[in-house]
Amino acid sequence: MVIDAKYDGAQWEESMKLLATDVDNTLTGDRAAYSSLVALLSMHRDVTIAYVTGRDKIQMFEIMAGECLREPDYFLCNVGTEVYEGPDYRRDDAWTRHIDRQWDRLELHQALATIPHLFQQSRQFEFKQSYHLFRKADVVIPEIHRRLNEIGIEHKVVYSSGTDLDVIPKRAGKGEAVDYVRKRLRIRPRSVLAAGDSGNDIELLSAGFLAVVVGNHKSELNADALPEDVYWARENYAAGIIEGIEHFGFLKP
Ligand code: GLC
Ligand code: MG
Repeated sequence: MVIDAKYDGAQWEESMKLLATDVDNTLTGDRAAYSSLVALLSMHRDVTIAYVTGRDKIQMFEIMAGECLREPDYFLCNVGTEVYEGPDYRRDDAWTRHIDRQWDRLELHQALATIPHLFQQSRQFEFKQSYHLFRKADVVIPEIHRRLNEIGIEHKVVYSSGTDLDVIPKRAGKGEAVDYVRKRLRIRPRSVLAAGDSGNDIELLSAGFLAVVVGNHKSELNADALPEDVYWARENYAAGIIEGIEHFGFLKP
């Protein structure tokens, strides 16, 4: 994906790094480990932090309050369909315009409404139509692609934890959204550390960044699903992120 082509290969911000981390069960899950991570990062002001999540922005503020999480520099919400930049976290409309191509969420939903086993989630968003799917994913997912291709909707299906299925625009996704932010900040791909635990992180962990899978990952994250150079932490939750930081020497100048 090339949005800001002028930044490609142009001057990089050599000293800057980006930690792009999933939130649920990656950043959260072990509060003591999270505190250690914050202490570690507080000594490294050159690291920009992005929370990359399947959740929406309001839910993120609720989780941050409940889990005492620090405010990040960026929220990449709803599976990389929304980008918000701090400190005011207004939606980045350039990203919205970029992903809004051959997309009609209501038409999409109508096309999928009669597929067995697919149950609509209670909350929907402009660029993320979500369902619960507990069984028959091997039949249902190809059927989703078939129906949406038939009506010309350019889409991506993201399936997580054997329960959650999101349909998002083809140009969106956690990996694409992080790459967009990375290019804007002129950070090299290998100066980005991605961290995750479940299916909606596969794209983020496969995007060519440094990548760590935390020890408590879901079974859909396995060697077949991910590139070879992904680091598989033994430690769980935020302690797994710290292990990845150490493995890659991410904070070294
Ligand atoms: C979050 C969202 C949900 C989505 C899931 C997987 O739980 O709230 O809508 O399906 O992430 O991406
Ligand atoms: Mg997660």
